[in-house]
Amino acid sequence: PMVAVAPAPGPPSPVTAPSQDELKRVAAHRAVEQVESGMVLGLGTGSTAAHTLDRIGDLIIRGELRDIVGIPTSEWAAARAASAGIPLTDLNAHPVIDLSIDGADEVDPALNLVKGRGGSLLREKMVEGASRRFVVIVDESKLVPRLGASGLAVPVEVIPFGWPLTLRRLQNLFDGVPGFNLKLRTAATNAKASTFCENWSDLEPFVTDNKNYIVDLFFENGIHGDLNRISDEILRITGVVEHGMFLGLASSVIVAQKEGIVVMNK
Ligand code: 5RP
Repeated sequence: PMVAVAPAPGPPSPVTAPSQDELKRVAAHRAVEQVESGMVLGLGTGSTAAHTLDRIGDLIIRGELRDIVGIPTSEWAAARAASAGIPLTDLNAHPVIDLSIDGADEVDPALNLVKGRGGSLLREKMVEGASRRFVVIVDESKLVPRLGASGLAVPVEVIPFGWPLTLRRLQNLFDGVPGFNLKLRTAATNAKASTFCENWSDLEPFVTDNKNYIVDLFFENGIHGDLNRISDEILRITGVVEHGMFLGLASSVIVAQKEGIVVMNK
């Protein structure tokens, strides 16, 4: 005979959704599974990359990873990696990197990225561009249908000399694009970096590790058109050092979602 089972008394046990930081940690730890002893690593910058640095440091301390050297993508990453116990080196000593792991601000369906809301785009692009494999780690909030569509900044690093002229040239480049806007990043508006930089103020321009400024571009509806052509046009402006669109650089993207991990491969 069928036996009716009464539900347990009391409220149902709560199932709490993972926080955004837990998702970042899950993606980071999955990526660190690709790290092997003896590798030269590119060390990313930001709150997601922080979990990789801590994890790699733990594995080194536990003796599970040996002979690792890391090339930091920022002064922040250098300090965090050193305190986690990761030996550091530089691009001069190791112009070819085995594996870089870093976060991103946006990921489009073709694995193009926007990076640099933390202000470290130049060193990130140099290190990650010199890597045999570049694994990106994000939580699901970073996925966009097209770059710029989150409404957040697409950063351009510029030299301080004559920056208002460079800003005007960037403005002219996107003249007529509906919903386009741009502004010099101040230390206070470097919202992301303020979570991991100590010295910031409301008034001063944000200064990158390379002693440059950042002009943030905003595209209300995302960037339409040929991204490679737009990249070339930005880079052709004298005074521009680099921009935060990372086109074709990611080998794979590990996306931590509430339902589990999805890996997007090139
Ligand atoms: C810094 C970056 C970061 O990788 C990007 O901003 C993602 O940061 P977070 O993991 O904190 O969301 O490009 O220049």
